[in-house]
Amino acid sequence: MKWEDSFLESFEWGNNIINKDRKLKIADKIASMVSDGNVVGAGSGSTVYLALKQIAKRIKDESLNILIIPSSREISMACIQLNIPQTTLLAHKPDWTFDGADEVDQDYNLIKGRGGAMFREKLLIASSPSTYIIADPSKMVKKLGTHFPVPIEIFPEALTHVEQSLKQFPVKEFNLRIAQKKDGPVITENGNLILDVWFDEIHGYLESAIKAITGVIESGLFMHYNVQLITGDD
Ligand code: 5RP
Repeated sequence: MKWEDSFLESFEWGNNIINKDRKLKIADKIASMVSDGNVVGAGSGSTVYLALKQIAKRIKDESLNILIIPSSREISMACIQLNIPQTTLLAHKPDWTFDGADEVDQDYNLIKGRGGAMFREKLLIASSPSTYIIADPSKMVKKLGTHFPVPIEIFPEALTHVEQSLKQFPVKEFNLRIAQKKDGPVITENGNLILDVWFDEIHGYLESAIKAITGVIESGLFMHYNVQLITGDD
């Protein structure tokens, strides 16, 4: 039985999608890559949402059998709204994954996690034989850390320990991510906190060094992953 007047039916990402025209081109490209029978990992963010809308159209028009593994609650809600069947990483391995990014350098190293979903996004990418990073040209930077800090998801009780441990690195500034429409800090889907950290330098070893601190769940730094880039120029 279907719910009447579900909130999800009118759920929209928001009118304020930056670089929407370019993101729509990227969305078309991703939708064109889907084949019948695929299990596809979907990251988070507005570009992913637009791509899901185009995939939903193909599923409907061509009666495709596609399963999406969402990386966040909002992307799972989008799949429900768009009538896209979902599964989980426990049940299926993705054939491929697509995901957005906040910054991309020349070697395709990434900063992700503006939306706070970097733990499950990294898990999806690690589980996938291939990953496409969908990033409009505004995301390209010479040096990671130009416009975005590195988000680090932290087990709440470990906050002070992690903060002290991070002082071994050249850190310019760190801020506990504060919620906009709730008092206090942002709480991730995993019940954790996020520290947004501005590093002086981001080197290849930094991702694993951050991860080695007890209490760190994951960071939004993605160094040397085997990813392909789609910018909408393709
Ligand atoms: C969320 C992310 C997003 O992929 C990133 O913020 C890109 O978002 P958008 O497509 O809205 O520009 O890492 O955790």
